[in-house]
Amino acid sequence: MAQPRVQSEYPAVAPGVRDFIGGRTRKMLIDGKWVEAASGKTLTSYDPATEEPLAEVPAGEKEDIDRAVKAARKAFETGPWRRMTASERGRAIWKLADLVERHGEEFAQLETLDNGKPLAVSRAADVPLVVDHFRYYAGWATKVEGETIPVSIPGQQMLTYTLREPVGVVGQIIPWNFPLLMAAWKLGVALACGNTVVLKPAEQTPLSALRLGELLDEAGIPPGVVNIVTGYGETAGAALAEHPDVDKIAFTGSTEVGKIIMRAASGNLKRVSLELGGKSPNIIFADADLDSAAIGAANAIFFNHGQCCCAGSRLYIEAKAYDTVMPKLVEYSEKIKLGPGMDLATEMGPLVSSEQYQRVTGFLDSGKKGGGKAASGGGRPKSLAKGYFVEPTVFTDVKADAKILREEIFGPVVCTIPFKNVDEVAKAGNDTTYGLAAAVWTKDIAKANRLAQTLKAGTVWINCYNVFDAAAPFGGYKQSGFGREMGKAALELYTQIKTVWTNLGPH
Ligand code: NAI
Ligand code: MG
Repeated sequence: MAQPRVQSEYPAVAPGVRDFIGGRTRKMLIDGKWVEAASGKTLTSYDPATEEPLAEVPAGEKEDIDRAVKAARKAFETGPWRRMTASERGRAIWKLADLVERHGEEFAQLETLDNGKPLAVSRAADVPLVVDHFRYYAGWATKVEGETIPVSIPGQQMLTYTLREPVGVVGQIIPWNFPLLMAAWKLGVALACGNTVVLKPAEQTPLSALRLGELLDEAGIPPGVVNIVTGYGETAGAALAEHPDVDKIAFTGSTEVGKIIMRAASGNLKRVSLELGGKSPNIIFADADLDSAAIGAANAIFFNHGQCCCAGSRLYIEAKAYDTVMPKLVEYSEKIKLGPGMDLATEMGPLVSSEQYQRVTGFLDSGKKGGGKAASGGGRPKSLAKGYFVEPTVFTDVKADAKILREEIFGPVVCTIPFKNVDEVAKAGNDTTYGLAAAVWTKDIAKANRLAQTLKAGTVWINCYNVFDAAAPFGGYKQSGFGREMGKAALELYTQIKTVWTNLGPH
């Protein structure tokens, strides 16, 4: 939501975008080669701003996953990857960052065409965050260390140390809300730790991951280290999650599928990390800077059209400030400019797909039927005939058991609820099966930090929202999943510890 607002303008199509979409997307990457699905089937990715087909990509299935896992296994056990020094691996990841940066405009446009998000956002957020993320983990490659342990064995001297080794072949299943960034979150740390990967992008947004795959060779990442299999979740995704030769599965997506993945992973007890849905409470106290809190609350829910796992979808406002905050929030929401992502004036694009459009508008109907009132938005923007657009919507009068207050909507829809005191809002904030994020707006920093300790969430923002950094861990409490991505914490997901004992003889 860039301010001040800019004039409508469509940039020139970046070099390479048309060739790629028109031709090369029909193949995916297995063992360093670009191949079609074994079945020859393809699936269509759509431009959500026009509802028109954008590209055909392979519809990979079990057989393709098998080939990709075999390639990843070979690359892990016997390929040059294992013999490369940590420094060489780090440099390859750094080079990948440089290459993404060099092709930054192409990636930004691919992301916008495939996902719908404003180009201004793909340029300013998605692509630079990807570059930064790869650089951060390039640095970690040389710092994955074990320890020496002072053991106490009577009469025996021992040298006991740990090695931190890669987990092995890793399956990574990612969603469509930040396609390239989610690929980077998964790949950066996995490669830094020396694993090999089979990556399954979301069927709605496979393009940027395929384009990233084209850069691996130039970056110096050997064949088979990263395999990219496009396809549907129920076929390609499921085959990866249950594959007996995959050592770990990392998933970002719905809580429903997270549970399926856990069951599928139980066959060979592969390690699992899950980053799932949320219904994050965003809490504004009357003693906050109410102007920035209102704008912050709008951005908390409307950034990426509400298609964020950590979206601030439950907005709690201290009762005595309710009538001050609400008009500011409503005014801000009504001014957000909706349009195709490729228009530089656009501040909010369409939802990613027709399914998500149906889902989110279904929630809008359910909210209204349940007695909720839309203080702004509430439907489809009348000015836009095509595309999966939904207006930024602010609900008031939401009942405590309403579906729109309890379930993840994953769209630009916020429920506003007044509260009287800290204890009441702490209880309400935690009254959810999720626990991904929360935020507190107040000038009383002690109160904010005390509340941060009470809230059951993996991230708590104070006087800010949606702030991310490759160095700061991110992940869920409760049914928002487990395992922390980003920062040093993510190394735990992609390494395992081996303890080595050496008998040095008697004391
Ligand atoms: P989803 O969880 O079905 O899709 C995410 C990824 O999982 C995709 O790559 C998909 O192909 C894969 N997948 C689907 N079924 C699978 C299976 N049985 N086995 C293995 N992989 C499978 O999410 P969907 O249907 O796209 O969106 C539905 C809802 O999920 C959204 O409305 C939102 O509430 C939530 N969601 C949460 C995300 C997050 O960042 N936490 C991201 C995307 C969706
Ligand atoms: Mg698409």
